[in-house]
Amino acid sequence: MCGIIGVVQKHGDVAPFLHQALKRLEYRGYDSVGVTTIAAGRLYIKKEKGKIEEVHRRLNLDDMPGSIGIGHTRWATHGIPSMLNAHPHFDCNNEISVVHNGVIDNFLELRAELKEKGHVLKSETDTEVIPHLIEDYMRDGLNLFQAVKETTKRIEGTYAIVVMSTREEVSRIVCTRDGNPLVIGRKEDVSYVSSDIPAFLPMTNDMILLLDGEIASLTADGVRIEKLADNSEVKREGIKISWTADQAQKSGYPHFMLKEIHEQPEAIKNTLRLRDDVIREAARIIHSSKRVIMLAMGTSGHAAQAGRHMFASIAGVLPVFELASDFPDTVYRTLTRNDCVIAITQSGETTDTISAVKYAKESGAKVVAITNVVGSSITRYADYTILTQAGPEIGVAATKTFMVQLAALALLALSLGELTGFVDASVIERKRKFLQRAPDIVSETISRNEELARRLAGQMYDKPSFLFLGRGVSIATAEEGALKLKEIAYNHAEAYSAGESKHGPIALVQEDYPVVFVAPNDETRSRIIGNIMEMKARGASIVSVISKDDKELASLSNHVFTIPEQIEAEFSTMIFVVPLQLFSYYMALKKGYDPDKPRNLAKSVTVL
Ligand code: G6P
Repeated sequence: MCGIIGVVQKHGDVAPFLHQALKRLEYRGYDSVGVTTIAAGRLYIKKEKGKIEEVHRRLNLDDMPGSIGIGHTRWATHGIPSMLNAHPHFDCNNEISVVHNGVIDNFLELRAELKEKGHVLKSETDTEVIPHLIEDYMRDGLNLFQAVKETTKRIEGTYAIVVMSTREEVSRIVCTRDGNPLVIGRKEDVSYVSSDIPAFLPMTNDMILLLDGEIASLTADGVRIEKLADNSEVKREGIKISWTADQAQKSGYPHFMLKEIHEQPEAIKNTLRLRDDVIREAARIIHSSKRVIMLAMGTSGHAAQAGRHMFASIAGVLPVFELASDFPDTVYRTLTRNDCVIAITQSGETTDTISAVKYAKESGAKVVAITNVVGSSITRYADYTILTQAGPEIGVAATKTFMVQLAALALLALSLGELTGFVDASVIERKRKFLQRAPDIVSETISRNEELARRLAGQMYDKPSFLFLGRGVSIATAEEGALKLKEIAYNHAEAYSAGESKHGPIALVQEDYPVVFVAPNDETRSRIIGNIMEMKARGASIVSVISKDDKELASLSNHVFTIPEQIEAEFSTMIFVVPLQLFSYYMALKKGYDPDKPRNLAKSVTVL
């Protein structure tokens, strides 16, 4: 949430790069945008409310001089989206420029103190206190690096901050973080810093991690990192990123979301190639624990819920699932060093999840993380990390990262099953074989349902409200289908256990009310038929996702999405969710919304 970019180079103007980099970061927030550059000792500023391309049309973000600059795309927390609240923010004399991601908790006290001293603050943001604090320290004779260090002692909260000043003799960017992501990129004569790798991916694959509590000085020649606690220099090896710039482009698709849905087979295939020993070690940690708690938010929470079923039926282990945001309230108190937490987060940066993991560590529990981003915050708190292989996901609504989480959990369940012996080795072998075919089945599921999803959206786009029902593992599928529709097409969409549906949701149903059933041909099928009949009896319009040969369910439904072959029940989410992703995408399009940038949402939520 909020995208930050900074670049300092030897030659040439940085503005066109900043503009393009901000576009690549736009999924982190898009209510306003701003850029500053420095040329000949002067700050050039362009910022405004609106999406990047709208602002660019008005202000021409490419036309700014200077070989050093910073930029920001905002997801509002403090203060409405407006020109004055857009970042960067400045000191009284427009000599210091700051972009920030996170929340400064003590900003009200700091604002009052600064105003008292005569500082003029122009915005409603928490961020603006930062340049004014730096201003005071620089007035006292500190250079930018030292002044930012001192400022971090005054601010409380979470932050990633990128700063530059016209008062520095050398072109320099200073950045620091505590609780929010920042990564540094390097190539000859250029240094980059950003909230996320795709921002500079077209320019370099060489990345240097910056950790919480560290501060970096970036010039065109190189990077110096220090620990804030004791000012010692940090010598850190760079990391080569395997993601390609192409993966972070739309490659001919109209939207990232559609491209990412189509990339799912490849993403699963790559994740299934994870080394056996990597999975086995995680399974060993889980096996040696007394209790297993799964923590996650949003779509990752739905992967956890599906994972719970996989663990139960394949390994006889029933984890507790808890939303990471609620974990510190209750479950955490019951945790001991004999327990294991599995934290699932595609970005590795979700503050709720990171903070829950910190609580878990306090009680001595082991933490296994499943994430898609190398070097992300969660990888530093977890005892053990499984790195899924979806490549960069840009669409705000998670699709392929969900798939790879499911694939990783499936591998883990199978490995755990081998340790517990809950089912026969032959059953595990059969399920493993099925998993290897999953990429092809997902691929065929996309082909046979995409046109249908588009047509159905054409018929249903004016329905305001949907119910999604399933049983067993399919509840997780229904939850994810409903979330997708809510997130990008703004429908009221409620997912429920089909068994529980008669205890409330059925009251909503009247003539033509759409009810979506996730109905694989597994042990839940006959009970699902009962639920379909109940809904039909009240006039519901039934949309179901079923096996292609299931004539009976087809005849009971008004519309059907079909799955090409018989699946292993525990892994059905991976396949059955696909038509629901496509349906949401086409609903959003039909309703005239941009599925890649749903209102009020951000890809990585870095506030509690
Ligand atoms: C946001 C995103 C969702 C995502 C959730 C959790 O709400 O919009 O797509 O599922 O955060 O993110 P994580 O990175 O922890 O999986």
